[in-house]
Amino acid sequence: MDLIVYASKKGATRKVAQMIKDNKENIQLVDINEKLPNLNEYENIYIGTPIYIGMINKKIKKLINENLEILLTKKVNIFLVGMNEKELENTIINNFPKSLREKSIIVHVGGAYYFNKLNFFQKLIVKKVANITKTSEAYKLDVINSL
Ligand SMILES: Cc1cc2nc3c(=O)[nH]c(=O)nc-3n(C[C@H](O)[C@H](O)[C@H](O)COP(=O)(O)O)c2cc1C
Repeated sequence: MDLIVYASKKGATRKVAQMIKDNKENIQLVDINEKLPNLNEYENIYIGTPIYIGMINKKIKKLINENLEILLTKKVNIFLVGMNEKELENTIINNFPKSLREKSIIVHVGGAYYFNKLNFFQKLIVKKVANITKTSEAYKLDVINSL
């Protein structure tokens, strides 16, 4: 049995997690806000998180830190959801322990801006940083399907 555990604020990471699930059999999908199962019981573990201002989700970070020993014994695939690939290398170095970086597969799967779900300040940031003013999706389906 495999596991996908993900966090999502606006729905993009949830959508990618569901796409990964749809591609596989014997795989369980868990939102980080639900009760988490015992990681020991899974072979492959997929971890999905969005990137906001260069940071991964806090609860995902906590999950990784608290279960690092177990995760280092598993096949771990981390999928990062974000719209700015330029900063990706720094984001990976800043957010994941070296031991896990070296042992896991970390991919960038693109992301989306769901404008109707952003608050006023988030819209301002997105407009300023990305010059985007309406909903846009940019998922990397080839990467998602390769997981
Ligand atoms: C306020 C704000 C800040 C963001 N900062 C980053 C960032 O630093 N790097 C990045 O790659 N994407 C950034 N994004 C894009 C999000 O990662 C993208 O919208 C993602 O799909 C969100 O995932 P979610 O819908 O699962 O929450 C930002 C988006 C917002 C609204």
